[in-house]
Amino acid sequence: MNLRILPALLLLPVLATPAIAQAPVTPGQLLYQKNCTRCHGANGKKGASGAHDLTKSNLNAFGRTYLVTNGMGKMPAFGKKLTAAQVQQVVAYSLTLR
Ligand code: HEC
Repeated sequence: MNLRILPALLLLPVLATPAIAQAPVTPGQLLYQKNCTRCHGANGKKGASGAHDLTKSNLNAFGRTYLVTNGMGKMPAFGKKLTAAQVQQVVAYSLTLR
């Protein structure tokens, strides 16, 4: 085999998957889209069912973890639906909404 074309062959899979390379979706973002957007919206500002604007929330990761796990008012509890690790991931993502 001609060794000079080897680098090009190694690069092919990278070039063939531009969509994945351009839009990395984190596990936390996926969990957020599945569980939170119907009330909070993709940008955190939707406010359906009286949901608070997440971009204006002063709650830190600890407070958000408690609230997502146990719920409050019209906000459902996710402690039985999501694992502790998933709650941590979705909370971390919610903190990126500004
Ligand atoms: C059924 C609608 C609904 C869904 C689904 C929902 N929320 Fe909420 N959320 C609310 C409501 C309503 C409040 C206000 C609760 C209160 O204070 O009485 C709230 C409040 C919050 C707060 C506190 C904001 C603050 O500082 O007051 C956070 C953080 C939050 N939600 C995160 C999430 C995350 C993360 C998810 C997904 C795992 C989620 N919510 C899913 C309705 C919802």
